[in-house]
Amino acid sequence: MCGIIGYVGHRRVIPVLLDGLKMLEYRGYDSAGIAYLKDGKIKVSRAEGKLENLDLKLNGKRDEVSFTGLGHTRWATHGVPNERNAHPHTDCKNELVVVHNGIIENYFSLRENLKAEGHEFRSDTDTEVLAHLIEKYFTGDLSEAVARAVQEVEGSYALAAMCTQDGVLVAARYQSPLVLGLGEGEYFLASDIPAFLRYTKDVMFLDDGEMVIVRRDGIQIKKAATGEEVKKKAERITWDAAMAEKAGFKHFMLKEIYEQPQAILNTVRGRVSVEEGEAYLPEIDLSEKELKDIRRVMLVACGTSWHAALLAKYYLEKWVGLPTEVDLASEFRYRSLLIGGDTLTVPISQSGETADTLAGLRIAKEKGSKIISICNVVGSTVSRESHGTIYTHAGPEIGVASTKAFTSQLTALYLLTIYLGRVRGAISKEKARLMIKDIIDLPPLLEDNIKNIHAAVKELALEFYKKRDFLYLGRNYMFPIALEGALKLKEISYIHAEGYAAGEMKHGPIALIDEAMPVVALAPSSPVYDKVLSNVLEVVARRGIVITLADEGDKKVADIATHTLFLPKVSEEMAPILYTVPLQLLAYEIAVLRGCDVDQPRNLAKSVTVE
Ligand code: AGP
Repeated sequence: MCGIIGYVGHRRVIPVLLDGLKMLEYRGYDSAGIAYLKDGKIKVSRAEGKLENLDLKLNGKRDEVSFTGLGHTRWATHGVPNERNAHPHTDCKNELVVVHNGIIENYFSLRENLKAEGHEFRSDTDTEVLAHLIEKYFTGDLSEAVARAVQEVEGSYALAAMCTQDGVLVAARYQSPLVLGLGEGEYFLASDIPAFLRYTKDVMFLDDGEMVIVRRDGIQIKKAATGEEVKKKAERITWDAAMAEKAGFKHFMLKEIYEQPQAILNTVRGRVSVEEGEAYLPEIDLSEKELKDIRRVMLVACGTSWHAALLAKYYLEKWVGLPTEVDLASEFRYRSLLIGGDTLTVPISQSGETADTLAGLRIAKEKGSKIISICNVVGSTVSRESHGTIYTHAGPEIGVASTKAFTSQLTALYLLTIYLGRVRGAISKEKARLMIKDIIDLPPLLEDNIKNIHAAVKELALEFYKKRDFLYLGRNYMFPIALEGALKLKEISYIHAEGYAAGEMKHGPIALIDEAMPVVALAPSSPVYDKVLSNVLEVVARRGIVITLADEGDKKVADIATHTLFLPKVSEEMAPILYTVPLQLLAYEIAVLRGCDVDQPRNLAKSVTVE
């Protein structure tokens, strides 16, 4: 996700834009830029890297006599982070300029058509097509040109546009946030409230399909498709600036847990077709023959990303029939590897900078293996050294404990499974349609249930936050999720927690069972459900405490467990993603009750760039 800001009013615009972008930096910070109107001309200034680089570039210009402008802080989805790809982007004649947050799914075809009509592109971004599309329809009325342009766009956008007409901005949104700040003779538009909260607490939220014309003397909201006027009520924000950066959540981690429906949706967006029964991963720069010649897959990662790799093994072996090995990168890099040109190596890394994972990538590449990575940071070292990268579009993950990046990794690996399964003829079109429908249906289902899940988890946290040990059990698809649940708890609450394959109970862990140690058992319906149930019975028989996560209405497990948290019933393949969320929330609520620093746990770093 990126951050956009726009201003029309009586203040010098450059400081307003820069200060606003500072408050939006949590949304993306790989490059930034502003555009402002001076003497009838559009001035653009952009810089790679942190916002301070742009600030430096604008040194001495903060007092420029200009009162209309746009700003953007980027989290790259298309095009590596550099000045060339930084927003704002202009049309061919530098008479129009656009900033955008979202993903233009049909940007490639739009760009080809616009190029054929003579438009010259200067960046690799999807956003630039918006500038040329608006230029195509611009005959003097910016709002009309924007309204026509967005009718051709597929995907998500919160865009703001400016032309050389002073004191006018036009913005539009679809499935990306856009909020208006209402001042005295001045108006703001932004991705999020913190951008202008210091100037006004009166806001209006745009809804999907709406657009707004912003002038010094007022705003006009319309439906982009029909031009129909929309009346909205202003709302007054009660947050302070710090709270606003977390959108009212107490911690970034909680905000990011709640962002998961959007993160999963954004990771899927533009990559599937239910009708066609296909997943599209053009990032995988391998021919069909190369993909069919793959004899095995090697997944390499650390920490939470390693848990994602463990689940991918089940997906790939079950649905693609490809022997799949998973290794901790810190082990992989030092063992005698039997991989080569017939191996597809998949490094998985949220940051794309983890030293061990990077080392593993380089060794696998030296041995001739094809490298397709799963990454959340465009232009990260892992992505730059891979033959192709499937990006998770989770947006910046600020909390040290990985949450939305993990469920986005699971989503990306699920798409990879469908893609490889279709290419290699292992998954039929009909089955692919069903699998794709499952992942499309998951985000709204999670959105509808996350608050109820959270409420139920809070009660469990209150009862168990003083415990000193936890055991998490899962089988098959749920084994990696048990490991992830344990890792979440231990890394933010500092409670000792172990994840175990439930079938391993008899081989040691059952000796630990007593009234003091809660056991979290993951028991969705599955071919191994009865086996998990017998493990739960083993624990209960020894007076252990069992918290089970199970399908709504599962009386069987509810009758034997100490506590049962019910979750909506989803397909076996979707259950790992869904069941991760209550475990993240349980770790979060327990850590908060224990007074821990949830966003920056002791001894941990967001990205382990050293061995
Ligand atoms: C996740 O909660 C942890 N903070 C940590 O295990 C993390 O997953 C690991 O360091 C790998 O990071 P990466 O995904 O950026 O490579």
